[in-house]
Amino acid sequence: MKAKPFLKWAGGKTQLISVIEQTLPKDITQTNFTYIEPFVGSGAVLFWALNNYPNMKKAVINDINDDLINTYKTIADRPKELISILEILQNEYHALEGSEDNKKLYYYKKRELYNTRKEEQSGQAALFIFLNRTCFNGLYRVNRKNEYNVPMGGYKKPTICDKENILAVSEALQKVEILCGDFEQTLEHADKNSLFYFDPPYKPLSETSSFNSYAKDEFNDKEQIRLKYFCNKLDILNHNWILSNSDVKGKDKNDNFFDELYSDFNIQRVDAKRSINANPEKRGKLKELLITNQVNKKEYVRPI
Ligand SMILES: C[S@@+](CC[C@H](N)C(=O)[O-])C[C@H]1O[C@@H](n2cnc3c(N)ncnc32)[C@H](O)[C@@H]1O
Repeated sequence: MKAKPFLKWAGGKTQLISVIEQTLPKDITQTNFTYIEPFVGSGAVLFWALNNYPNMKKAVINDINDDLINTYKTIADRPKELISILEILQNEYHALEGSEDNKKLYYYKKRELYNTRKEEQSGQAALFIFLNRTCFNGLYRVNRKNEYNVPMGGYKKPTICDKENILAVSEALQKVEILCGDFEQTLEHADKNSLFYFDPPYKPLSETSSFNSYAKDEFNDKEQIRLKYFCNKLDILNHNWILSNSDVKGKDKNDNFFDELYSDFNIQRVDAKRSINANPEKRGKLKELLITNQVNKKEYVRPI
C-alpha cells in the first residue's frame, strides 16, 4: 500500500500535485536527489514524492509545530504502539455513536488531556490523530498558550485508526529525516542535489479570512519576506526550489505583494481548490501561486 497523508490539514496540496509535477526540474528528479520540505504540514507533496521517485536519496521534513512533528516521529519509530492506542480510542468513540452528549464529553476530555501534554510520546501522538479525525473540519488551531481549541466535528464513526496507512507511512518515513523548528534550519541538511518545496502558511486574502494560525506564532508579511530572502540564499547556493502561496492579486488587482517580492523568479498562477474552508463560497474559485527559481538557466541572471 502507498503511504498517504495521515492527517487532514489546512492547505493540503493534493489538488496542486499535477502542476507541481510539471514544474519539477527533471534534471534533478532523475538523479539521486534530496527532497526538502521545510513546512511539511500533512505532507501531501512529501508522500506523493516518496511514492513517485524511488530514486530519491533521502528526504528532510520540518515544521514548527512540535506536536505534529512528535506524531511523525512516533509513526516512524513506534507504529505498532501507536496503532494499539488508536484502536482503543476508535472503539471507545464509535461505541458512543447515537449519543451526541456522550461523544462531546469524550471529545472534550481527550482534548483536555492532550493539552496537558503529559502523556508519553505515543499517547500524545494518538491524541493528536484522534483530535484531527474528530474535530471540526480537521482544523489545527491553538491559542497563545498553545492550547488546542477546535470544537468537535459532526462526523459519524470517523476512521481514527487507519492501520494499513500508518504502517505504510512508517515504512516510507525510514528514509526521511524529521526536524522540528524554523524553516531556515533545513539548509544545514541540504546537499548538492537538493530540491526544496515550500508550502508556508498562506498570506491571508483579507483581514478576516486570516487562517494561518497553525502555531502560536503568526506568519505575517515580515515572515513572508524573510522566507523570500531565504529563497534568494538557496538560489545563490545553486539549490532548486518551488514555493506555493495565495494569489493576493486575484482578490485585489492592486495588490502586488508577491509579484514584486518574487519579481526575480518565475511566477505561475494555477487553479487550486482549498480543501478546508468553512465558507463554501470561497471554495474552489481562487488561483494560487507556484513560484520557482527554475527557469531557462542559461538566460537567467541570478539576483544579488
Ligand atoms: C500551509 S501549511 C503546510 C501544508 C502542507 N504542505 C500540506 O500539504 O498539508 C504550513 C505549515 O507551516 C508551519 N509553520 C509555520 N511557521 C513556520 C516556521 N517559521 N517554520 C517552519 N514551519 C512553520 C505550520 O505549522 C504548518 O504546518
